[in-house]
Amino acid sequence: MAIREIRQNGDEILRKKSRVVEVVDDKIRELLEDMLETMHKYNGVGLAAPQVGILKRVVVIDLYDESEPLKLVNPVIIKEKGKQEVEEGCLSFPNQYAKMIRPEEIVVEALNENGEKIKIKAKGLLAQAICHEVDHLDGILFVDNMIPGTLEYVEPKED
Ligand code: NI
Repeated sequence: MAIREIRQNGDEILRKKSRVVEVVDDKIRELLEDMLETMHKYNGVGLAAPQVGILKRVVVIDLYDESEPLKLVNPVIIKEKGKQEVEEGCLSFPNQYAKMIRPEEIVVEALNENGEKIKIKAKGLLAQAICHEVDHLDGILFVDNMIPGTLEYVEPKED
């Protein structure tokens, strides 16, 4: 496993559309592992492949709760229900947060790390995180969705 460099706001790769993964092979599994390790290092709850410079439809999510981290290949949100007002940040925008409206519940279809079809019902923070990461695959960044005027810079805590 390896830590990969996180592309920051202003890097044009973040605005590109990612390609569908044709085969979930060892290279994709390695990418998923590296993305998890990278996300954990920076205490993120989600990371999309374009954020590490790879234009493939691959995301990882970890809410640091009792459930296993999610590794999603070719995720597609097939249902959205309700609305929630949330605060959101992004590892490509360090220390910046904004408010936005996300669906309260979603259903997402994807492939897992073994290339098997999975379907996940998510609500609350998990629904928010999946929507955020799927947006990345289409070059959409959280600041595109924010309620205008809500972007805040929060001073990082000293270690
Ligand atoms: Ni992000």
